[in-house]
Amino acid sequence: MLLAKLRPLIVPLETLIADCMDAGLCVQTCLDVGCGTGLFLEEFYRAGIIAAGTGVEISTRYRRTINPDCRVILDSELSPDAQFELVMFNDVLHHVADKPAFLKRYLTHLCPGGWILVKEMNPERFMWRWLNRLHDLVMAHQLIRETTPENLEQLLTGFIRVRHGRRRILWYDHYWSLFRSPANLAAIP
Ligand SMILES: C[S@@+](CC[C@H](N)C(=O)[O-])C[C@H]1O[C@@H](n2cnc3c(N)ncnc32)[C@H](O)[C@@H]1O
Repeated sequence: MLLAKLRPLIVPLETLIADCMDAGLCVQTCLDVGCGTGLFLEEFYRAGIIAAGTGVEISTRYRRTINPDCRVILDSELSPDAQFELVMFNDVLHHVADKPAFLKRYLTHLCPGGWILVKEMNPERFMWRWLNRLHDLVMAHQLIRETTPENLEQLLTGFIRVRHGRRRILWYDHYWSLFRSPANLAAIP
């Protein structure tokens, strides 16, 4: 897959990983929603941020065992009882129409006191926004709908944003936000 080979070149993984480590992120279990090939699982595992990970996908083509501790499964195969210390959404939210429902659904798998990582394309600058949209029109045949960092904070009201980073590579203007959940998840609206 050519796209899978190109992706590490346009995603600021090193900076993002360094930022997460600096924030103290280090967990046993991770759920990567819309994980694609499992690039983030692979790199987080290699960096020692996660000890094990499950990626979920709607597409069967990504289904695979990455290593003895990490695998990509179909969304429908995720056990309803599974709990994770980290739930991450990397470039998947902009593909989803009903973002509140999508987040809510997967955050039922988050442990109390757990972490949420969201990496998104930053739509704030017109030119980068439209060049990236063009990319998705060609590659995914979809007009994506990004969410700004401020909207994301509203979507995750009740969670505490502990990190926020941003980096552009070519016309790919990335941002990421790392959140921590309160010990009592019932406090989340
Ligand atoms: C831009 S790719 C990002 C892949 C991966 N997260 C990464 O950053 O390398 C978006 C992925 O989200 C998946 N996806 C889109 N809608 C989804 C949904 N409703 N549930 C799960 N995965 C979804 C797509 O199949 C695709 O693999």
